[in-house]
Amino acid sequence: MSEQPGGRPRPIPIILDCDPGHDDAIAILLAAASPAVDLRAVTTTFGNCSMEDATRNALRVLTLAGATDIPVARGAETSLRGDAELGNYVHGRSGLDGPDLPEPAFGASDLAAAELIERVVGASDAPVTLVATGPITNIATVLERGRVDRARIAEILFMGGSVDRGNHTPTAEFNAFADPEALAAVLGSGLPVRMVGLNLTHQALATPAVVDRMRAMDHRVGRIAAEWMGFFGSSYRAIWAFDSPPVHDPCTIAVLISPELIRWRRCFVAVETAGEWTRGTTVVDLHDRYRRVPNAEVAMELDADGYWDLVLESIDRLGRGR
Ligand code: RIB
Ligand code: CA
Repeated sequence: MSEQPGGRPRPIPIILDCDPGHDDAIAILLAAASPAVDLRAVTTTFGNCSMEDATRNALRVLTLAGATDIPVARGAETSLRGDAELGNYVHGRSGLDGPDLPEPAFGASDLAAAELIERVVGASDAPVTLVATGPITNIATVLERGRVDRARIAEILFMGGSVDRGNHTPTAEFNAFADPEALAAVLGSGLPVRMVGLNLTHQALATPAVVDRMRAMDHRVGRIAAEWMGFFGSSYRAIWAFDSPPVHDPCTIAVLISPELIRWRRCFVAVETAGEWTRGTTVVDLHDRYRRVPNAEVAMELDADGYWDLVLESIDRLGRGR
């Protein structure tokens, strides 16, 4: 990480491509709150809900965070091949059901997501980290358009896939299932790629103790975060019999802020695009059985206590300022 005058590490420039979504919303709060991350733009995609709903939700969450200077651009309404698998069954009709949120204090850009990503990356004074917490269609589209200097992309850090079981199907995680062709393009890009899959994010459970700490913050942001966990938790109990919901997406932002939170393994990763029963399944070659060149760092172990201390301290700092 480069340094600023005085020796402090320079904030990491990122673009967050997301489908808010309760866990995406916490990721947005974390990115907006942390001085270690320079949130240059938010782009939206179909996924947990329609792209339009995800865009409205992103604008509302950024308004809640007081981050109304962050450009937001609409992205993919469907996958690269035209599918629109949606996750409203987990996140509710709006995609972010539960507490009332402020009306957006600003509007989305006239640029499309790919155009905004290209503009931000092209204008950045340092390579930009592309963080994806939804179906990775927008980033695959940027790579396909070929209008960015790839040297100006620091890495692609995505929440998706899994070393083992799936969630949306028995073997496929939702983001990977929603656009496996896009994920295959990212995995085959030759760019630095880090994968944060369900095997990792299922260690990031919003237990009752975590939710109690949100409620105890005694400000609006903390109360809303707690209510989001309430709704998200009810879905996870009903659908997957989880006692507490795994809060997937902020793991990507948290590890940029505190790299020591996650232990990684460099592996060859493929994603199934043709399987009748296994479409969207990520195949993580932990023991080099295919003898293929590794193409990703795969998240394996989370310091869950450290993760929640960081997330909660960040939300509290943000809420006190609002
Ligand atoms: O499978 C979990 C992922 O799918 C998370 O990013 C969640 O927000 C949904 O997009
Ligand atoms: Ca998401």
